[in-house]
Amino acid sequence: MADKYSQLNGVRTGYHRDRSCCCCLISIFWKLLVALVVLFGVIIVIFYLIVQPRSFKFYVTKAELTQFDYTNNTLHYNMVLNFTAHNPNKKLGIYYDNVEARTFYEGSRFANVDMITYKNSFRQDKKKSDPMSGVFSGQRILMLDNDQVYEFNKDKNVGVYDIHIKLYFIIRFKLGDSISHKYKPKVKCDLKTALRSSNNATFTFTRILPTKCDVLF
Ligand SMILES: *[C@@H]1O[C@H](CO)[C@@H](O)[C@H](O)[C@H]1NC(C)=O
Ligand SMILES: *[C@@H]1O[C@H](CO)[C@@H](O)[C@H](O)[C@H]1NC(C)=O
Ligand SMILES: *[C@@H]1O[C@H](CO)[C@@H](O)[C@H](O)[C@H]1NC(C)=O
Repeated sequence: MADKYSQLNGVRTGYHRDRSCCCCLISIFWKLLVALVVLFGVIIVIFYLIVQPRSFKFYVTKAELTQFDYTNNTLHYNMVLNFTAHNPNKKLGIYYDNVEARTFYEGSRFANVDMITYKNSFRQDKKKSDPMSGVFSGQRILMLDNDQVYEFNKDKNVGVYDIHIKLYFIIRFKLGDSISHKYKPKVKCDLKTALRSSNNATFTFTRILPTKCDVLF
């Protein structure tokens, strides 16, 4: 009787031990997971505090519009834009691998130009500025509706055109010897550009430059 009882008891305690061990493992696992998550968070916070990563800054420094005519649903344009890209980071360098600029008038795209391709990509060190430029020249069939033609004629009378520029970047960051994966920020610039008429040099461009652009990651 006593034997049977102790046997039963043994089984019961054995069962108890298994269950508590299982609970204990789960509990250890949870504690470990929480610790890892906290550690990861702390590492990220420390990384941000030390590296202080910041986006680059982008400005239009010069805009020269020498032709902007819309006749027979065709836009003839000739425009040179100069930009400055600035890296405000204290620790990070930036590789500019690719920059494509698209220009819009009245919501319609009329030109796109590769300002930088991967072959002439360059590295910008911390706290440095570099120029970039785009030459937009040619013609494009644009179907402006009556309202848009009205806006065009208004702009034409004043001699100042609202031109919207979108730039598509492919960049990488450099920290010490390590290089990040690719980022694809977009940049938007709104420009009021005056036409430089060949016979009136004073009427060059009125817009106060540089114009700061929006950089969106
Ligand atoms: C526009 O089209 C009309 C008719 O096709 C033509 O007579 C005229 O010369 C064209 N204008 C320009 C600036 O191309
Ligand atoms: C503006 O860009 C054009 C075209 O690339 C270049 O020839 C010119 O030197 C640039 N001007 C300035 C002031 O950077
Ligand atoms: C140039 O254009 C401006 C604005 O239309 C005008 O006030 C000025 O008299 C012109 N200057 C010359 C030399 O034609």
